Amino acid sequence: MDIILKLLDEYTVLSPQEKKQRQELILSYKNPVGILFDILQSKDTEKQHKRYCINALCDIALKPAYKKKISRILYPSLAEKIISIDDPKIRKAAAKLIGIINKKDYSQTLIDAVEREDTMYVLDSLILALGYTDYSKRSLGFLKNYKPKSTEKKHLEKEKTAIQKAISSLTPVEKIENVLLKDLPIVLTYCAELKDSLSSEMDDYGLAYKHSKIIKNSLSVKPNDYRDVFGLRCFFEALIYIGEFPLGDLNDMIKKIFVKAESLFSLESYKFRIDLQYLDPKDKKETMDKLLNIIDEFDNFESSPSNYQFELRLIFSDNSIKAFISVPSLDDRFSYRKETIPASINPVVAASIMRALKPYFKADAKVLDPFVGTGTMLFERDYILPCEELIGVDVKKETLYKAKKNFLNKDIPSSFLVSDILEADLNQEFDEIISNMPFGRRVSTHNDNTKLYQGFISQLKSLLKVGGFAFLYTNEKQLLKSVLRGEDKLILIDEIVVESGGLYPSIFIIKREK
Ligand SMILES: C[S@@+](CC[C@H](N)C(=O)[O-])C[C@H]1O[C@@H](n2cnc3c(N)ncnc32)[C@H](O)[C@@H]1O
Repeated sequence: MDIILKLLDEYTVLSPQEKKQRQELILSYKNPVGILFDILQSKDTEKQHKRYCINALCDIALKPAYKKKISRILYPSLAEKIISIDDPKIRKAAAKLIGIINKKDYSQTLIDAVEREDTMYVLDSLILALGYTDYSKRSLGFLKNYKPKSTEKKHLEKEKTAIQKAISSLTPVEKIENVLLKDLPIVLTYCAELKDSLSSEMDDYGLAYKHSKIIKNSLSVKPNDYRDVFGLRCFFEALIYIGEFPLGDLNDMIKKIFVKAESLFSLESYKFRIDLQYLDPKDKKETMDKLLNIIDEFDNFESSPSNYQFELRLIFSDNSIKAFISVPSLDDRFSYRKETIPASINPVVAASIMRALKPYFKADAKVLDPFVGTGTMLFERDYILPCEELIGVDVKKETLYKAKKNFLNKDIPSSFLVSDILEADLNQEFDEIISNMPFGRRVSTHNDNTKLYQGFISQLKSLLKVGGFAFLYTNEKQLLKSVLRGEDKLILIDEIVVESGGLYPSIFIIKREK
């Protein structure tokens, strides 16, 4: 607890980069979220440190895996406690945190908090958080009858805007089902080092494509229906390209984009979120405010970041803005991943790796993932060429519980064993071993990896059938190569570099010889 308290020092005044570093360090400790909540509630923590702590929690909650962790700890009773702390600044940040977690369960807690709150600058945050109570009818009913309480003009304006925004967020939107593309191209972004995975998938799928210069690492397609592309797994995003606009006239650009949006969806009104990319952080807020002012003039378009039908992506360069529209709700390619852990591999990266490895795969193989995590590698392996049996091992019980949940509807034999792989009693040989191994500061240390890699590679030959393959994904490249050198029955066939989240791990293809 003391070390984490130290890491929270001055948190609110740090630069974004420094905050990120502190978060990484905090998250490298065991049970960081539990400790942060303990700090927040402890009688011994000074007020200023509680402020740092709640702000750090808000930032951490924006990371999807930690959002889930926080959500599991932040019961309504705990939400009630933090939103009643005797410091308005903490209550304001607590409202933000509860809003990020976005659960119906907080509805009554927040309604009570709004009713008893007597500090004007806290009210708008509590009301906005009510808007994020997952379409709660109770929250909506309360807000429709609510009369603003602020007596000062500045706060009254903020309170009224918050009420409007919250009511809009709580009102369900009509789901987009049909997209009339006409002649607009879709740009598909791919994993930088695995571009052939997407093109080969498109060839199999019979979809004509062009290499696109519209955005880096992308192909463009013109399918009959936008939904057609979601049969492909090896792309990150499917962005409908609206056009390129000069930097000067945002008004004209928004008008033209909305005309296109109307022709794409033909609805009466639209809710959307805006994402600005490659814009200097210092200009971002100003540009967003300008855009929101322009959008305010349109009755049928509303910016609603938490409850939207489409996303408008604006990519800035020195002399132009490229505009794209996407409908993320139509993308259900990886819906099996109900549970993940922070170290989970991006499923698009996993699918792209499987495509690249397909020539090595055997039909009806028996496959082991010795560091299975929540099972993404096994799932994507089976997806590309069905297996006979899948077995996953992981040292963490709670992680395996998640993997089992993800595999609930999978209809081939799969089993999961809680064990340190170095002690696992598997007593069988596999056609293939495929794994995203522990690497990276957040997951393990280099010293731990050294022991683990040495132990695992010395076991590998007894786990693989003669002629079988291991496909090991790691950024501990030198370590893996050096331990492999001592194994004469394991031959390194190839190494494929993969770009993922700013790192360049490799997938090592290893064959078990006689
Ligand atoms: C990089 S993660 C795998 C993530 C997985 N591909 C996914 O998408 O969720 C590595 C996993 O190895 C597990 N692990 C670490 N040391 C282990 C050991 N000695 N034996 C078995 N599993 C271990 C960790 O618990 C973690 O879940």
